[in-house]
Amino acid sequence: MTIIVTGGAGFIGSNFIFHMLEVYPEYRIVCLDKLTYAGNLSTLEKVKDNKNFRFVKADICDRQAVYKLFEEENPDIVVNFAAESHVDRSIETPEIFLQTNIIGTAVLMDACRKYGIKRYHQVSTDEVYGDLPLDRPDLFFTENTPLHTSSPYSSSKASADLLVLSYYRTFGLPVTISRCSNNYGPYHFPEKLIPLMVINALANKPLPVYGEGLNVRDWLYVEDHCRAIDLIIHNGRVGEVYNVGGHNEMSNIDIVKIICKTLGKPESLITYVSDRKGHDLRYAIDPEKIHKELGWLPETKFADGIQRTIKWYLENENWWKPIISGEYRNYYEKMYGKRE
Ligand code: NAD
Ligand code: DAU
Repeated sequence: MTIIVTGGAGFIGSNFIFHMLEVYPEYRIVCLDKLTYAGNLSTLEKVKDNKNFRFVKADICDRQAVYKLFEEENPDIVVNFAAESHVDRSIETPEIFLQTNIIGTAVLMDACRKYGIKRYHQVSTDEVYGDLPLDRPDLFFTENTPLHTSSPYSSSKASADLLVLSYYRTFGLPVTISRCSNNYGPYHFPEKLIPLMVINALANKPLPVYGEGLNVRDWLYVEDHCRAIDLIIHNGRVGEVYNVGGHNEMSNIDIVKIICKTLGKPESLITYVSDRKGHDLRYAIDPEKIHKELGWLPETKFADGIQRTIKWYLENENWWKPIISGEYRNYYEKMYGKRE
């Protein structure tokens, strides 16, 4: 079995590669990644010498490079994690999101059609459903919730989902889609809420909470997401969408307070800054379908996962320090410098 994992030098893709090489030591895993600001080869350090692992630097929008890799590897399965993934960046520069997230997906599926494939899996997001009101805790996203996007990021992901489903209906391409809630865990890029707050708190820097910090996200430990994708590519029904989430809803401010408490930092570091444009209020997944059909349940409780994650950042400065001392500084200044 050969699996091409795109975007495998990023947060979730790398954790998925570690999971697959451990659970299926006989599988060949080929990582295709452009190594954008979010991709980091040092993340893959521990698997780089595995004889069943290969890394290829390429852009999923580069048709020639993608076709060449398919010719060389003749993959059975493609799992597409490659994406521009940060909502705030999509508000600044939407175009690259359309290019990678939509056109890149189309190129991958064309390659799958041309060379034949057992399964194409699209890693999507709960953000395609838009948001839920804060005062209706009885409402959840199901796979039948209409797509209703808020940001250029979520719009690009929803567009890709529609394209994937059209390749199933029109060309019979054997596709599946997963729509997962917010992941957290090791190797999470420090532009995202949890690692940003951990790293700022460690440096006694302000903790920039958007708006009043009352927006709610449904947090899932990254390994649980990886297990869900593993189940879907092996046992999921083609043409189907599976929601993945942990019934673990928390407001941003509560998360930031947990981080302060764990690190022994004062809550006075918390600074309320201007809100994200179009900020989604609440995400909440109903994961009944994947539970009933594939037996998936989250295994890591948030109370354990967040401690494990914070510990990982404490013990892996050599991973994140080079990131925050490079181009990230310009990004941080641009995004937060004038934010009041
Ligand atoms: P990430 O930003 O950490 O990693 C993205 C990876 O894709 C990077 O390694 C980057 O170099 C690579 N990449 C970007 N553009 C590329 C291109 N044109 N060609 C090849 N590689 C390219 O993202 P992540 O948080 O790991 O998310 C992975 C996927 O999961 C994304 O599709 C995202 O939409 C989805 N998702 C993320 C979350 C989350 O909470 N992080 C939740 C649900 C779904
Ligand atoms: O729900 C799945 C999605 O989760 C994925 O599709 C995205 O790729 C992923 O980035 C994530 O999107 P969010 O926008 O929810 O994640 P982010 O970490 O950027 O923000 C989480 C919440 O915290 C959100 O309500 C905005 C808020 N926030 C974020 C940052 C970076 C702050 O208050 N301050 C910050 O500095």
